[in-house]
Amino acid sequence: MAILNLKGPNQKSMIAGALRVRVAILGLLLTCSQGPALQAQEAAIASPEPHATEIGLAVLREGGNAVDVATAVAFALAVTFPDAGNIGGGGFMTLYFDDEPMFLDYREVAPAAAFRDMYLDETGTVDSDASLTGHRAVGVPGTVAGLWAAHRRYGKLDWPSLLEPAIALAANGFVVPQTLLDEIDYESERLKSTKSFLNYFGELKAGERFIQPELANTLRRIAEQGARGFYTGETARLIAAEMQRGNGLVTEADLASYKVRWRAPLSFPWRGYQIVTAPLPSSGGLAIFQYLQMKEFLRDDFSGLEHNSPQYIHLKAEIEKRIFEDRASFLGDADFVDVPVDRLMDMERLAQRAATVEVSSISPTPSSKSVREPIHTTHFSILDSQGNAVSNTYTLNTSFGSGVVVGGAGFLLNNEMDDFSAAPNEPNYYGVVGDEANAIAPGKRMLSSMSPTLLLRDDKLAMALGAMGGSTIFTTVYQMISNMLEFGMSAQDAQAATRVHHQLLPKDLITYSPTTPLAPGTIDALRERGYRVEPHSYEYGNVQLIVRENDGSLTAVSDPRFGGTSAVITLPDDQ
Ligand code: DON
Repeated sequence: MAILNLKGPNQKSMIAGALRVRVAILGLLLTCSQGPALQAQEAAIASPEPHATEIGLAVLREGGNAVDVATAVAFALAVTFPDAGNIGGGGFMTLYFDDEPMFLDYREVAPAAAFRDMYLDETGTVDSDASLTGHRAVGVPGTVAGLWAAHRRYGKLDWPSLLEPAIALAANGFVVPQTLLDEIDYESERLKSTKSFLNYFGELKAGERFIQPELANTLRRIAEQGARGFYTGETARLIAAEMQRGNGLVTEADLASYKVRWRAPLSFPWRGYQIVTAPLPSSGGLAIFQYLQMKEFLRDDFSGLEHNSPQYIHLKAEIEKRIFEDRASFLGDADFVDVPVDRLMDMERLAQRAATVEVSSISPTPSSKSVREPIHTTHFSILDSQGNAVSNTYTLNTSFGSGVVVGGAGFLLNNEMDDFSAAPNEPNYYGVVGDEANAIAPGKRMLSSMSPTLLLRDDKLAMALGAMGGSTIFTTVYQMISNMLEFGMSAQDAQAATRVHHQLLPKDLITYSPTTPLAPGTIDALRERGYRVEPHSYEYGNVQLIVRENDGSLTAVSDPRFGGTSAVITLPDDQ
Protein backbone atom coordinates (compact mmCIF):
# COMPACT_ATOMS: atom_id res chain seq x y z
CA MET A 1 0.00 0.00 0.00
CA ALA A 2 1.28 3.42 -0.85
CA ILE A 3 2.32 5.67 1.96
CA LEU A 4 0.64 9.02 1.82
CA ASN A 5 2.90 11.97 1.84
CA LEU A 6 0.41 14.74 1.99
CA LYS A 7 1.06 18.22 3.14
CA GLY A 8 -1.68 18.83 5.59
CA PRO A 9 -2.77 18.98 9.16
CA ASN A 10 -1.53 15.64 10.46
CA GLN A 11 -2.97 16.32 13.87
CA LYS A 12 -6.38 16.49 12.32
CA SER A 13 -5.95 13.13 10.74
CA MET A 14 -5.01 11.66 14.12
CA ILE A 15 -8.12 13.12 15.65
CA ALA A 16 -10.13 11.80 12.73
CA GLY A 17 -8.63 8.36 13.23
CA ALA A 18 -9.84 8.36 16.81
CA LEU A 19 -13.37 9.00 15.77
CA ARG A 20 -16.13 6.64 14.88
CA VAL A 21 -15.44 5.09 11.52
CA ARG A 22 -17.99 3.15 9.57
CA VAL A 23 -16.73 1.18 6.67
CA ALA A 24 -18.94 -0.53 4.15
CA ILE A 25 -17.00 -3.16 2.27
CA LEU A 26 -18.62 -4.96 -0.64
CA GLY A 27 -21.93 -3.59 0.47
CA LEU A 28 -21.46 -4.87 4.04
CA LEU A 29 -21.76 -2.24 6.72
CA LEU A 30 -19.27 -2.60 9.55
CA THR A 31 -19.32 -0.13 12.37
CA CYS A 32 -16.41 0.29 14.71
CA SER A 33 -16.58 2.86 17.43
CA GLN A 34 -13.15 4.14 18.30
CA GLY A 35 -13.79 7.00 20.66
CA PRO A 36 -16.20 9.63 21.84
CA ALA A 37 -18.19 11.48 19.20
CA LEU A 38 -16.74 14.98 18.96
CA GLN A 39 -18.36 17.81 17.07
CA ALA A 40 -18.08 16.14 13.71
CA GLN A 41 -19.22 15.85 10.14
CA GLU A 42 -19.52 12.76 8.03
CA ALA A 43 -17.82 12.31 4.70
CA ALA A 44 -18.12 9.39 2.31
CA ILE A 45 -16.56 7.66 -0.63
CA ALA A 46 -17.62 4.81 -2.87
CA SER A 47 -15.09 3.61 -5.42
CA PRO A 48 -14.62 0.51 -7.55
CA GLU A 49 -11.24 -0.52 -6.15
CA PRO A 50 -9.95 -0.92 -2.57
CA HIS A 51 -6.56 0.87 -2.95
CA ALA A 52 -8.36 3.86 -4.42
CA THR A 53 -10.91 3.95 -1.60
CA GLU A 54 -8.14 3.76 1.02
CA ILE A 55 -6.26 6.58 -0.66
CA GLY A 56 -9.42 8.66 -0.86
CA LEU A 57 -10.08 8.14 2.85
CA ALA A 58 -6.55 9.20 3.70
CA VAL A 59 -7.00 12.41 1.69
CA LEU A 60 -10.25 13.11 3.55
CA ARG A 61 -8.46 12.60 6.87
CA GLU A 62 -5.75 15.01 5.76
CA GLY A 63 -8.38 17.69 5.29
CA GLY A 64 -8.78 17.29 1.53
CA ASN A 65 -12.06 18.28 -0.07
CA ALA A 66 -14.12 16.25 -2.55
CA VAL A 67 -12.06 17.37 -5.55
CA ASP A 68 -8.78 16.60 -3.78
CA VAL A 69 -10.14 13.13 -3.09
CA ALA A 70 -11.37 12.73 -6.68
CA THR A 71 -7.92 13.70 -7.98
CA ALA A 72 -6.10 11.17 -5.80
CA VAL A 73 -8.68 8.44 -6.47
CA ALA A 74 -8.68 8.95 -10.24
CA PHE A 75 -4.88 8.79 -10.49
CA ALA A 76 -4.79 5.74 -8.20
CA LEU A 77 -7.35 3.94 -10.38
CA ALA A 78 -5.17 4.71 -13.41
CA VAL A 79 -2.55 2.48 -11.76
CA THR A 80 -4.55 -0.26 -10.03
CA PHE A 81 -7.59 -0.53 -12.32
CA PRO A 82 -6.06 -0.22 -15.79
CA ASP A 83 -9.08 -1.73 -17.54
CA ALA A 84 -11.02 1.48 -16.95
CA GLY A 85 -9.16 3.83 -14.60
CA ASN A 86 -7.00 5.96 -16.82
CA ILE A 87 -4.95 8.93 -17.84
CA GLY A 88 -5.33 8.03 -21.52
CA GLY A 89 -9.12 8.33 -21.66
CA GLY A 90 -11.74 10.87 -20.69
CA GLY A 91 -14.88 11.41 -18.67
CA PHE A 92 -17.36 13.64 -16.92
CA MET A 93 -17.49 15.09 -13.43
CA THR A 94 -20.70 16.39 -11.88
CA LEU A 95 -19.97 18.58 -8.88
CA TYR A 96 -21.78 20.32 -6.08
CA PHE A 97 -19.32 22.74 -4.61
CA ASP A 98 -19.90 25.67 -2.28
CA ASP A 99 -23.62 25.14 -2.89
CA GLU A 100 -23.27 25.44 -6.64
CA PRO A 101 -23.89 22.61 -9.12
CA MET A 102 -21.30 22.37 -11.90
CA PHE A 103 -20.32 20.01 -14.70
CA LEU A 104 -16.88 19.35 -16.12
CA ASP A 105 -16.64 17.73 -19.55
CA TYR A 106 -13.24 16.15 -20.12
CA ARG A 107 -14.43 13.84 -22.87
CA GLU A 108 -11.95 12.87 -25.57
CA VAL A 109 -12.16 14.63 -28.93
CA ALA A 110 -11.50 13.38 -32.45
CA PRO A 111 -7.98 14.26 -33.62
CA ALA A 112 -7.58 17.02 -36.23
CA ALA A 113 -6.84 14.46 -38.93
CA ALA A 114 -10.02 12.47 -38.23
CA PHE A 115 -12.76 12.55 -40.83
CA ARG A 116 -16.32 11.36 -41.22
CA ASP A 117 -15.69 8.18 -43.18
CA MET A 118 -12.38 7.21 -41.62
CA TYR A 119 -13.59 3.74 -40.65
CA LEU A 120 -15.06 2.89 -44.07
CA ASP A 121 -13.07 0.87 -46.58
CA GLU A 122 -13.07 1.49 -50.35
CA THR A 123 -16.36 -0.39 -50.71
CA GLY A 124 -18.03 1.74 -48.04
CA THR A 125 -18.02 -1.07 -45.48
CA VAL A 126 -17.30 -0.21 -41.88
CA ASP A 127 -14.05 -1.62 -40.51
CA SER A 128 -15.31 -1.96 -36.96
CA ASP A 129 -12.00 -3.32 -35.65
CA ALA A 130 -10.29 -0.07 -36.57
CA SER A 131 -12.56 2.06 -34.38
CA LEU A 132 -12.18 -0.34 -31.49
CA THR A 133 -8.65 -1.72 -31.41
CA GLY A 134 -5.27 -0.22 -32.16
CA HIS A 135 -3.91 3.22 -32.87
CA ARG A 136 -6.63 4.59 -35.13
CA ALA A 137 -9.28 4.02 -32.44
CA VAL A 138 -7.71 6.62 -30.15
CA GLY A 139 -9.31 9.97 -29.36
CA VAL A 140 -7.34 12.85 -27.83
CA PRO A 141 -7.36 12.05 -24.09
CA GLY A 142 -9.04 14.42 -21.64
CA THR A 143 -8.56 12.88 -18.20
CA VAL A 144 -5.44 14.71 -17.05
CA ALA A 145 -6.74 18.06 -18.29
CA GLY A 146 -10.02 17.34 -16.50
CA LEU A 147 -8.49 16.50 -13.16
CA TRP A 148 -6.13 19.47 -13.44
CA ALA A 149 -9.00 21.86 -14.26
CA ALA A 150 -11.15 20.57 -11.39
CA HIS A 151 -8.24 20.87 -8.98
CA ARG A 152 -7.31 24.39 -10.16
CA ARG A 153 -10.86 25.53 -9.58
CA TYR A 154 -11.71 23.74 -6.35
CA GLY A 155 -8.72 21.85 -4.95
CA LYS A 156 -7.33 22.63 -1.52
CA LEU A 157 -4.35 20.32 -0.98
CA ASP A 158 -1.20 20.42 -3.10
CA TRP A 159 -1.54 18.84 -6.53
CA PRO A 160 1.78 16.90 -6.30
CA SER A 161 0.81 15.46 -2.94
CA LEU A 162 -2.42 14.09 -4.45
CA LEU A 163 -0.49 12.19 -7.11
CA GLU A 164 1.99 10.81 -4.59
CA PRO A 165 -0.06 7.71 -3.67
CA ALA A 166 -0.53 6.78 -7.34
CA ILE A 167 3.17 7.30 -8.03
CA ALA A 168 4.01 5.05 -5.09
CA LEU A 169 1.62 2.36 -6.35
CA ALA A 170 3.20 2.50 -9.80
CA ALA A 171 6.80 2.61 -8.55
CA ASN A 172 6.51 0.03 -5.76
CA GLY A 173 3.80 -2.06 -7.37
CA PHE A 174 0.57 -3.51 -6.09
CA VAL A 175 -0.48 -7.13 -5.74
CA VAL A 176 -2.27 -8.25 -8.90
CA PRO A 177 -5.82 -9.41 -8.14
CA GLN A 178 -7.34 -12.37 -9.98
CA THR A 179 -10.08 -10.08 -11.30
CA LEU A 180 -7.52 -8.09 -13.28
CA LEU A 181 -6.05 -11.28 -14.76
CA ASP A 182 -9.53 -12.48 -15.71
CA GLU A 183 -10.22 -9.22 -17.50
CA ILE A 184 -6.86 -9.37 -19.33
CA ASP A 185 -7.63 -12.94 -20.36
CA TYR A 186 -11.07 -11.96 -21.59
CA GLU A 187 -9.76 -9.10 -23.72
CA SER A 188 -6.48 -10.58 -24.93
CA GLU A 189 -7.95 -12.16 -28.06
CA ARG A 190 -9.25 -8.75 -29.19
CA LEU A 191 -6.14 -6.88 -28.12
CA LYS A 192 -3.39 -9.26 -29.20
CA SER A 193 -2.98 -7.38 -32.49
CA THR A 194 -1.70 -4.32 -30.64
CA LYS A 195 1.30 -6.26 -29.27
CA SER A 196 2.03 -3.55 -26.74
CA PHE A 197 -0.96 -4.73 -24.69
CA LEU A 198 0.33 -8.25 -24.21
CA ASN A 199 3.91 -7.01 -23.81
CA TYR A 200 2.78 -4.83 -20.96
CA PHE A 201 0.07 -6.94 -19.30
CA GLY A 202 0.64 -10.44 -20.68
CA GLU A 203 3.06 -11.70 -18.03
CA LEU A 204 1.16 -10.68 -14.92
CA LYS A 205 0.52 -13.35 -12.30
CA ALA A 206 -2.05 -13.33 -9.52
CA GLY A 207 -0.51 -12.49 -6.17
CA GLU A 208 2.67 -10.97 -7.66
CA ARG A 209 3.46 -7.29 -7.59
CA PHE A 210 2.89 -5.25 -10.73
CA ILE A 211 5.58 -2.58 -10.85
CA GLN A 212 5.26 0.14 -13.49
CA PRO A 213 8.34 2.41 -13.52
CA GLU A 214 7.44 4.13 -16.80
CA LEU A 215 3.98 4.98 -15.54
CA ALA A 216 5.53 6.24 -12.29
CA ASN A 217 7.71 8.60 -14.36
CA THR A 218 4.74 9.80 -16.41
CA LEU A 219 2.83 10.50 -13.19
CA ARG A 220 5.86 12.33 -11.78
CA ARG A 221 5.89 14.62 -14.83
CA ILE A 222 2.19 15.33 -14.28
CA ALA A 223 2.80 15.87 -10.56
CA GLU A 224 5.57 18.38 -11.28
CA GLN A 225 4.09 20.22 -14.26
CA GLY A 226 0.33 19.74 -13.97
CA ALA A 227 -1.53 19.15 -17.24
CA ARG A 228 1.51 20.40 -19.18
CA GLY A 229 3.33 17.29 -17.97
CA PHE A 230 0.94 15.25 -20.11
CA TYR A 231 -0.07 17.49 -23.02
CA THR A 232 3.37 18.90 -23.81
CA GLY A 233 6.99 17.83 -23.47
CA GLU A 234 8.14 14.25 -22.90
CA THR A 235 4.72 12.60 -22.42
CA ALA A 236 3.22 14.29 -25.48
CA ARG A 237 6.28 13.28 -27.53
CA LEU A 238 5.93 9.67 -26.38
CA ILE A 239 2.20 9.61 -27.25
CA ALA A 240 2.81 11.11 -30.70
CA ALA A 241 5.68 8.66 -31.35
CA GLU A 242 3.42 5.76 -30.32
CA MET A 243 0.73 7.01 -32.68
CA GLN A 244 3.20 7.11 -35.56
CA ARG A 245 4.24 3.51 -34.92
CA GLY A 246 0.66 2.37 -35.65
CA ASN A 247 -0.73 4.99 -38.06
CA GLY A 248 -2.67 6.65 -35.27
CA LEU A 249 -3.91 10.19 -35.78
CA VAL A 250 -3.25 11.94 -32.46
CA THR A 251 -0.40 14.46 -32.78
CA GLU A 252 1.47 16.70 -30.37
CA ALA A 253 -0.59 19.59 -31.76
CA ASP A 254 -3.83 17.72 -30.91
CA LEU A 255 -2.59 17.21 -27.38
CA ALA A 256 -1.45 20.80 -26.94
CA SER A 257 -4.82 22.12 -28.09
CA TYR A 258 -7.06 19.81 -26.00
CA LYS A 259 -9.55 21.80 -23.90
CA VAL A 260 -11.96 20.75 -21.17
CA ARG A 261 -15.39 22.37 -21.10
CA TRP A 262 -17.11 23.68 -17.99
CA ARG A 263 -20.79 23.28 -18.71
CA ALA A 264 -24.05 23.99 -16.97
CA PRO A 265 -25.21 20.59 -15.74
CA LEU A 266 -28.59 19.33 -16.84
CA SER A 267 -30.58 20.13 -13.75
CA PHE A 268 -34.29 19.80 -13.05
CA PRO A 269 -36.66 19.47 -10.10
CA TRP A 270 -38.30 16.14 -9.42
CA ARG A 271 -40.49 15.25 -6.43
CA GLY A 272 -38.78 17.63 -4.02
CA TYR A 273 -35.29 16.83 -5.30
CA GLN A 274 -33.09 18.73 -7.70
CA ILE A 275 -31.49 16.22 -10.06
CA VAL A 276 -28.13 17.41 -11.34
CA THR A 277 -26.72 15.30 -14.12
CA ALA A 278 -24.80 15.13 -17.38
CA PRO A 279 -25.67 17.38 -20.34
CA LEU A 280 -24.52 16.73 -23.91
CA PRO A 281 -22.19 15.27 -25.11
CA SER A 282 -23.69 12.70 -22.78
CA SER A 283 -27.07 11.31 -23.68
CA GLY A 284 -27.51 10.25 -20.05
CA GLY A 285 -29.00 13.35 -18.47
CA LEU A 286 -31.56 13.85 -21.23
CA ALA A 287 -32.49 10.19 -20.98
CA ILE A 288 -33.00 10.33 -17.22
CA PHE A 289 -35.14 13.44 -17.66
CA GLN A 290 -37.25 11.76 -20.35
CA TYR A 291 -37.69 8.61 -18.23
CA LEU A 292 -38.94 10.51 -15.22
CA GLN A 293 -41.23 12.82 -17.19
CA MET A 294 -42.78 10.13 -19.37
CA LYS A 295 -43.33 8.07 -16.27
CA GLU A 296 -45.21 10.99 -14.71
CA PHE A 297 -47.48 11.10 -17.78
CA LEU A 298 -48.06 7.35 -17.40
CA ARG A 299 -48.67 7.63 -13.66
CA ASP A 300 -52.02 5.88 -13.81
CA ASP A 301 -50.61 2.96 -15.76
CA PHE A 302 -47.71 2.54 -13.35
CA SER A 303 -49.87 2.94 -10.27
CA GLY A 304 -49.77 -0.10 -7.97
CA LEU A 305 -47.35 -2.09 -10.14
CA GLU A 306 -44.83 -4.16 -8.26
CA HIS A 307 -41.13 -3.51 -8.77
CA ASN A 308 -39.85 -5.54 -11.75
CA SER A 309 -43.21 -7.19 -12.34
CA PRO A 310 -43.85 -8.12 -16.00
CA GLN A 311 -46.18 -5.17 -16.58
CA TYR A 312 -43.73 -2.79 -14.90
CA ILE A 313 -40.85 -4.05 -17.06
CA HIS A 314 -43.02 -3.80 -20.17
CA LEU A 315 -43.96 -0.17 -19.51
CA LYS A 316 -40.34 0.65 -18.71
CA ALA A 317 -39.25 -0.96 -21.99
CA GLU A 318 -41.83 1.07 -23.89
CA ILE A 319 -40.37 4.26 -22.42
CA GLU A 320 -36.81 3.07 -23.14
CA LYS A 321 -37.72 2.39 -26.74
CA ARG A 322 -38.67 6.02 -27.17
CA ILE A 323 -35.64 7.34 -25.30
CA PHE A 324 -33.22 5.28 -27.39
CA GLU A 325 -34.97 6.34 -30.58
CA ASP A 326 -34.39 10.00 -29.73
CA ARG A 327 -30.82 9.21 -28.74
CA ALA A 328 -30.05 7.57 -32.08
CA SER A 329 -31.85 10.19 -34.15
CA PHE A 330 -30.86 13.49 -32.60
CA LEU A 331 -27.93 13.36 -30.20
CA GLY A 332 -24.33 14.35 -30.74
CA ASP A 333 -21.86 17.03 -29.65
CA ALA A 334 -23.95 20.21 -29.44
CA ASP A 335 -20.79 22.31 -29.95
CA PHE A 336 -20.77 20.91 -33.50
CA VAL A 337 -24.32 20.07 -34.47
CA ASP A 338 -27.73 21.50 -33.73
CA VAL A 339 -29.35 19.25 -31.18
CA PRO A 340 -33.00 20.17 -30.49
CA VAL A 341 -32.56 19.86 -26.73
CA ASP A 342 -35.53 22.11 -25.93
CA ARG A 343 -37.76 20.01 -28.13
CA LEU A 344 -36.49 16.77 -26.64
CA MET A 345 -37.28 18.13 -23.17
CA ASP A 346 -40.55 19.73 -24.18
CA MET A 347 -43.40 18.55 -21.93
CA GLU A 348 -46.00 18.58 -24.66
CA ARG A 349 -43.85 16.41 -26.90
CA LEU A 350 -43.02 14.05 -24.02
CA ALA A 351 -46.71 13.78 -23.20
CA GLN A 352 -47.40 12.86 -26.82
CA ARG A 353 -44.58 10.32 -26.80
CA ALA A 354 -45.89 8.82 -23.57
CA ALA A 355 -49.38 8.66 -25.06
CA THR A 356 -48.05 6.37 -27.82
CA VAL A 357 -46.94 3.80 -25.23
CA GLU A 358 -48.82 0.55 -25.74
CA VAL A 359 -50.00 -0.47 -22.31
CA SER A 360 -50.69 -4.11 -23.07
CA SER A 361 -48.72 -4.98 -26.21
CA ILE A 362 -45.27 -4.24 -27.61
CA SER A 363 -45.30 -1.19 -29.86
CA PRO A 364 -43.51 -1.74 -33.16
CA THR A 365 -39.79 -1.04 -33.34
CA PRO A 366 -39.76 1.84 -35.78
CA SER A 367 -36.39 1.64 -37.51
CA SER A 368 -33.24 -0.39 -37.82
CA LYS A 369 -31.34 1.75 -35.39
CA SER A 370 -29.42 0.03 -32.64
CA VAL A 371 -27.01 1.04 -29.94
CA ARG A 372 -23.63 -0.46 -29.25
CA GLU A 373 -22.65 -2.09 -26.00
CA PRO A 374 -19.03 -1.52 -25.11
CA ILE A 375 -17.65 -3.01 -21.93
CA HIS A 376 -15.97 -1.12 -19.14
CA THR A 377 -15.81 2.29 -17.60
CA THR A 378 -15.64 3.31 -13.98
CA HIS A 379 -17.45 5.56 -11.58
CA PHE A 380 -16.74 6.93 -8.11
CA SER A 381 -18.74 9.16 -5.76
CA ILE A 382 -17.34 11.41 -3.04
CA LEU A 383 -18.84 13.67 -0.40
CA ASP A 384 -16.57 15.74 1.83
CA SER A 385 -17.35 16.94 5.33
CA GLN A 386 -18.27 20.41 4.06
CA GLY A 387 -21.02 19.01 1.88
CA ASN A 388 -19.13 19.27 -1.42
CA ALA A 389 -19.74 16.36 -3.74
CA VAL A 390 -18.14 14.81 -6.79
CA SER A 391 -19.78 12.23 -9.00
CA ASN A 392 -17.24 11.13 -11.59
CA THR A 393 -17.40 8.64 -14.44
CA TYR A 394 -14.37 8.17 -16.66
CA THR A 395 -13.35 5.58 -19.19
CA LEU A 396 -11.08 4.20 -21.88
CA ASN A 397 -14.36 3.03 -23.47
CA THR A 398 -14.08 -0.78 -23.65
CA SER A 399 -11.83 -2.69 -21.24
CA PHE A 400 -8.22 -1.53 -21.70
CA GLY A 401 -9.43 0.78 -24.49
CA SER A 402 -7.55 0.51 -27.78
CA GLY A 403 -5.02 -1.86 -26.19
CA VAL A 404 -2.28 0.57 -27.20
CA VAL A 405 0.17 1.13 -24.35
CA VAL A 406 2.25 4.26 -24.93
CA GLY A 407 5.83 3.05 -25.33
CA GLY A 408 8.07 4.50 -22.61
CA ALA A 409 5.11 6.07 -20.79
CA GLY A 410 3.32 3.00 -19.42
CA PHE A 411 -0.35 3.79 -19.91
CA LEU A 412 -3.20 2.69 -22.16
CA LEU A 413 -4.94 4.86 -24.72
CA ASN A 414 -8.70 4.89 -25.19
CA ASN A 415 -10.79 3.58 -28.10
CA GLU A 416 -13.41 6.26 -27.62
CA MET A 417 -13.59 6.92 -31.39
CA ASP A 418 -15.92 3.91 -31.45
CA ASP A 419 -18.56 6.02 -29.69
CA PHE A 420 -18.97 8.05 -32.87
CA SER A 421 -21.28 6.71 -35.56
CA ALA A 422 -18.73 5.28 -37.95
CA ALA A 423 -21.24 5.43 -40.77
CA PRO A 424 -24.41 7.37 -40.14
CA ASN A 425 -27.49 5.27 -40.82
CA GLU A 426 -25.48 2.19 -41.75
CA PRO A 427 -25.05 -0.59 -39.25
CA ASN A 428 -21.42 -1.17 -38.34
CA TYR A 429 -19.78 -4.44 -37.36
CA TYR A 430 -21.81 -4.54 -34.13
CA GLY A 431 -25.06 -3.65 -35.81
CA VAL A 432 -24.79 -0.12 -34.49
CA VAL A 433 -26.41 2.74 -36.30
CA GLY A 434 -26.20 6.37 -35.34
CA ASP A 435 -27.02 9.53 -37.14
CA GLU A 436 -25.38 12.60 -38.68
CA ALA A 437 -25.44 14.33 -35.31
CA ASN A 438 -22.86 11.85 -34.07
CA ALA A 439 -20.74 11.60 -37.21
CA ILE A 440 -16.96 12.01 -36.87
CA ALA A 441 -15.46 15.49 -37.26
CA PRO A 442 -12.10 16.91 -36.14
CA GLY A 443 -12.21 18.25 -32.59
CA LYS A 444 -15.71 16.88 -31.99
CA ARG A 445 -16.73 14.95 -28.87
CA MET A 446 -18.29 11.53 -29.40
CA LEU A 447 -21.73 10.93 -27.89
CA SER A 448 -21.61 9.26 -24.49
CA SER A 449 -24.00 7.56 -22.10
CA MET A 450 -21.99 8.31 -18.97
CA SER A 451 -24.25 9.89 -16.36
CA PRO A 452 -22.51 11.01 -13.17
CA THR A 453 -25.46 12.28 -11.17
CA LEU A 454 -26.20 14.14 -7.94
CA LEU A 455 -29.55 14.59 -6.24
CA LEU A 456 -29.97 17.59 -3.97
CA ARG A 457 -32.63 18.17 -1.37
CA ASP A 458 -32.94 21.46 0.52
CA ASP A 459 -29.63 22.47 -1.10
CA LYS A 460 -27.79 19.51 0.43
CA LEU A 461 -26.51 16.41 -1.24
CA ALA A 462 -29.11 13.64 -1.02
CA MET A 463 -27.53 11.13 -3.38
CA ALA A 464 -24.41 10.74 -5.54
CA LEU A 465 -24.23 7.96 -8.07
CA GLY A 466 -23.16 6.78 -11.49
CA ALA A 467 -22.46 3.58 -13.35
CA MET A 468 -20.56 1.82 -16.10
CA GLY A 469 -21.99 -0.26 -18.89
CA GLY A 470 -22.26 1.74 -22.13
CA SER A 471 -25.88 2.16 -23.10
CA THR A 472 -27.04 0.58 -19.83
CA ILE A 473 -25.52 3.42 -17.80
CA PHE A 474 -28.49 5.75 -17.70
CA THR A 475 -31.04 2.95 -17.51
CA THR A 476 -29.15 1.84 -14.40
CA VAL A 477 -28.94 5.33 -12.88
CA TYR A 478 -32.64 5.80 -13.51
CA GLN A 479 -33.47 2.45 -11.86
CA MET A 480 -31.35 3.28 -8.82
CA ILE A 481 -33.20 6.58 -8.34
CA SER A 482 -36.52 4.88 -8.85
CA ASN A 483 -35.68 1.93 -6.57
CA MET A 484 -34.91 4.24 -3.67
CA LEU A 485 -37.26 7.17 -4.17
CA GLU A 486 -40.29 5.51 -5.73
CA PHE A 487 -40.08 2.02 -4.23
CA GLY A 488 -38.57 3.08 -0.90
CA MET A 489 -35.69 0.60 -1.04
CA SER A 490 -32.65 1.00 1.16
CA ALA A 491 -29.37 1.83 -0.57
CA GLN A 492 -28.27 -1.80 -0.16
CA ASP A 493 -31.49 -3.24 -1.56
CA ALA A 494 -31.51 -0.79 -4.44
CA GLN A 495 -27.98 -1.88 -5.34
CA ALA A 496 -28.79 -5.57 -5.07
CA ALA A 497 -32.03 -5.41 -7.08
CA THR A 498 -31.96 -6.94 -10.54
CA ARG A 499 -31.49 -4.34 -13.26
CA VAL A 500 -33.52 -4.63 -16.41
CA HIS A 501 -32.64 -3.05 -19.73
CA HIS A 502 -34.19 -2.44 -23.13
CA GLN A 503 -32.69 -0.20 -25.78
CA LEU A 504 -34.92 -0.22 -28.89
CA LEU A 505 -32.66 -2.66 -30.71
CA PRO A 506 -32.12 -5.56 -30.78
CA LYS A 507 -35.85 -5.61 -31.37
CA ASP A 508 -37.96 -6.57 -28.35
CA LEU A 509 -34.96 -7.80 -26.36
CA ILE A 510 -35.05 -7.29 -22.61
CA THR A 511 -31.88 -8.09 -20.67
CA TYR A 512 -31.25 -8.30 -16.94
CA SER A 513 -28.26 -8.38 -14.58
CA PRO A 514 -26.79 -11.83 -15.24
CA THR A 515 -25.72 -12.56 -11.67
CA THR A 516 -29.05 -11.48 -10.13
CA PRO A 517 -31.58 -12.77 -12.64
CA LEU A 518 -35.25 -11.90 -12.91
CA ALA A 519 -37.67 -14.38 -11.35
CA PRO A 520 -38.44 -17.27 -13.74
CA GLY A 521 -42.16 -16.47 -13.62
CA THR A 522 -41.45 -12.89 -14.71
CA ILE A 523 -39.27 -14.08 -17.57
CA ASP A 524 -42.00 -16.46 -18.73
CA ALA A 525 -44.67 -13.79 -18.51
CA LEU A 526 -42.59 -11.35 -20.58
CA ARG A 527 -41.88 -14.06 -23.14
CA GLU A 528 -45.58 -14.73 -23.43
CA ARG A 529 -46.03 -11.08 -24.30
CA GLY A 530 -43.57 -11.40 -27.18
CA TYR A 531 -40.30 -10.26 -25.66
CA ARG A 532 -37.00 -12.08 -25.86
CA VAL A 533 -35.64 -12.08 -22.31
CA GLU A 534 -31.97 -12.86 -21.69
CA PRO A 535 -29.22 -12.23 -19.19
CA HIS A 536 -27.22 -9.21 -20.35
CA SER A 537 -24.03 -10.27 -22.14
CA TYR A 538 -21.91 -8.87 -19.31
CA GLU A 539 -22.49 -7.76 -15.73
CA TYR A 540 -23.00 -4.02 -15.69
CA GLY A 541 -23.58 -1.10 -13.37
CA ASN A 542 -20.78 -1.20 -10.81
CA VAL A 543 -22.75 1.64 -9.23
CA GLN A 544 -20.92 3.59 -6.54
CA LEU A 545 -23.55 5.18 -4.35
CA ILE A 546 -23.68 7.69 -1.51
CA VAL A 547 -27.03 8.44 0.11
CA ARG A 548 -28.06 10.85 2.82
CA GLU A 549 -30.67 9.05 4.91
CA ASN A 550 -33.75 10.78 6.32
CA ASP A 551 -32.02 11.22 9.70
CA GLY A 552 -29.15 13.05 7.99
CA SER A 553 -26.61 10.24 8.33
CA LEU A 554 -24.73 8.96 5.31
CA THR A 555 -24.65 5.54 3.72
CA ALA A 556 -22.13 4.53 1.06
CA VAL A 557 -22.62 1.30 -0.85
CA SER A 558 -20.60 -0.24 -3.67
CA ASP A 559 -22.35 -2.49 -6.17
CA PRO A 560 -22.29 -5.95 -4.57
CA ARG A 561 -21.69 -7.58 -7.96
CA PHE A 562 -18.20 -6.08 -8.16
CA GLY A 563 -15.15 -5.55 -5.96
CA GLY A 564 -15.56 -1.91 -4.99
CA THR A 565 -15.34 -0.58 -1.45
CA SER A 566 -17.15 2.26 0.20
CA ALA A 567 -16.89 4.03 3.50
CA VAL A 568 -18.48 6.69 5.63
CA ILE A 569 -16.03 8.43 7.92
CA THR A 570 -16.58 11.01 10.61
CA LEU A 571 -14.25 13.99 10.68
CA PRO A 572 -13.88 16.98 12.98
CA ASP A 573 -16.10 19.89 12.09
CA ASP A 574 -13.31 22.18 10.92
CA GLN A 575 -12.16 19.93 8.08
O1 DON B 1 -19.10 7.10 -23.07
C1 DON B 1 -19.74 6.07 -23.13
O2 DON B 1 -20.95 6.02 -23.07
C2 DON B 1 -18.99 4.76 -23.28
N1 DON B 1 -17.70 4.98 -23.84
C3 DON B 1 -18.93 4.11 -21.95
C4 DON B 1 -18.35 2.74 -22.04
C5 DON B 1 -18.72 1.88 -20.93
O3 DON B 1 -19.43 2.23 -20.03
C6 DON B 1 -18.23 0.51 -20.97
N2 DON B 1 -18.57 -0.18 -19.76
N3 DON B 1 -19.07 -1.24 -19.63
